Amino acid sequence: MSEHFSVDRELFNEVMVPNYAPSAVIPVRGKGSRVWDQQDNEYIDFAGGIAVSALGHCHPALVGALKEQGEKIWHLSNVLTNEPALRLAKKLVDNTFAEKVYFCNSGAEANEAALKLARRWALEVHGEEKSQIIAFKQGFHGRTFFTVTVGGQAAYSDGFGPKPGNIDHAEYNNLDSLKALISDKTCAVMIEPLQGEGGIVAPTDEFIKGVRELCNQHNALLIFDEVQTGLGRLGSLYAYMDLGVTPDILSSAKGLGGGFPIGAMLTTTDIAQHLKIGTHGSTYGGNPLACAVGEAVLDTVNTPEVLAGVKAKSTLYVDGLNAINAKYNVFSEIRGKGLLIGAVLNENYQGKAKDFLNAAMAEGVMTLVAGASIVRFAPSLVISDDDITEGLVRFERAVAKMVK
Ligand SMILES: Cc1ncc(COP(=O)(O)O)c(C=O)c1O
Repeated sequence: MSEHFSVDRELFNEVMVPNYAPSAVIPVRGKGSRVWDQQDNEYIDFAGGIAVSALGHCHPALVGALKEQGEKIWHLSNVLTNEPALRLAKKLVDNTFAEKVYFCNSGAEANEAALKLARRWALEVHGEEKSQIIAFKQGFHGRTFFTVTVGGQAAYSDGFGPKPGNIDHAEYNNLDSLKALISDKTCAVMIEPLQGEGGIVAPTDEFIKGVRELCNQHNALLIFDEVQTGLGRLGSLYAYMDLGVTPDILSSAKGLGGGFPIGAMLTTTDIAQHLKIGTHGSTYGGNPLACAVGEAVLDTVNTPEVLAGVKAKSTLYVDGLNAINAKYNVFSEIRGKGLLIGAVLNENYQGKAKDFLNAAMAEGVMTLVAGASIVRFAPSLVISDDDITEGLVRFERAVAKMVK
C-alpha cells in the first residue's frame, strides 16, 4: 500500500510525543546480529534493543513459536489461563528459586508488582509501620511513578508532583550507607545485581552478601531487579545464581521475550499468597503469544552451550576493546560481566559517549550508552564470533575518527 506521506525520521517529530530523540536510521529488518535500514545499509547489532534481543533478530525458534501460537490463539485475558503461560511459569519455577510466577508486559510492571507485593506482605505480616523501601542511587527500575521513585535518579522522578512515600536510597557497594538506613521498619530492599543504566557497576561479593544479611537481620524482603541482568545476559540464567545470594522476589523482562513484550515477577509461595485474588492484575499479563515466545527463549538460552558461549564471547569483547584502547587510549576501564559490557571513557572524553555511539552507527555498528561517559554493549547472546570481530573492526574505525 503506498501512503500519501513519507515514513521517515521527519515524521517522528510531526506525530510522536517528543520524549525520545531517536537516530535518523530507521531499521526495517534484521537477521541474527545484522540489521538493515530503509536504504538497505547494513549494521552489526551490539545493542540488542537495549539488552532485549537475547537471541538476535528473527531467531528461527522464536519465529516458529510466534507463528505456531499465532495460528492457535492470541489472547484470552486473565479470566482464563492458557497453556503457554502455564508452561513458561512451570519452567521458570523449575529452573530458579521461585515457586510462583506473575506475568506482566515489561520490566517496570514486574518491578511495580514486586514492590506492591512487598508492601502487602509487610502490611499483613508485620503491620503498617513496616513500609520503608530502600533502593540504590543510580539504580534504574522502570518508568511507572512507583518504580521511577524507587530508582535512584531524581531526574527521572522529579516534575510529576507528589511521589509515593517512604522510599530511601543508599549507595551501591557501600554497606555502611545501607546499614544507616535499614531498620525493622524496612519492608524491602530493591537492587540490581549489576547496575545497568547506572553505569555497568558490578557488586562486590562482600556488598551483595551483606545486603542479604542485613535484610535477614531486619526481616526485610530482598528484591533483585534482573530485568537487564536476567536470561543469561551475565552468563548464568539469572545473575543471583553466580552471586551466592538468593532474593525473595525477582523481576525479569527484556531478554525473557527476546523482543516480544513480557515481564515476570518470581517469588516464593509464602510471599506470593499476599497478592490475593483481585489485589493486582494486567489485561495482557500472561498473553499466550508472549508466553509462547518466552518459553522458546528460555528453552534456547538455558543450555550449557549458550551460557558458556556468553562467557567466551565476553572475553572476545573485552580483549578486543582493550586492544582498541591500547592503540587509541580512550577508555579508563572496560567493565561489566558476560555480555553486558561498559567501556568507560577516560578524562579526555567525558560526556562524549553519545558521540561515540553516533560515530559507531556511521561505521555500521549499533552500540548503547550507559550515562554520558560509558559506551555499553549488550549484543545477542548467540552473536557469532565473526560478527563480534567485524563489529569491533567497525567500532575501531569510529574510535579512530573520534580521536582525530
Ligand atoms: C534494571 C532495569 N529494570 C527495569 C527496567 C525497565 O524495564 P521496561 O523498560 O521494560 O519497563 C530496565 C530498563 O532498562 C532496567 O534496566
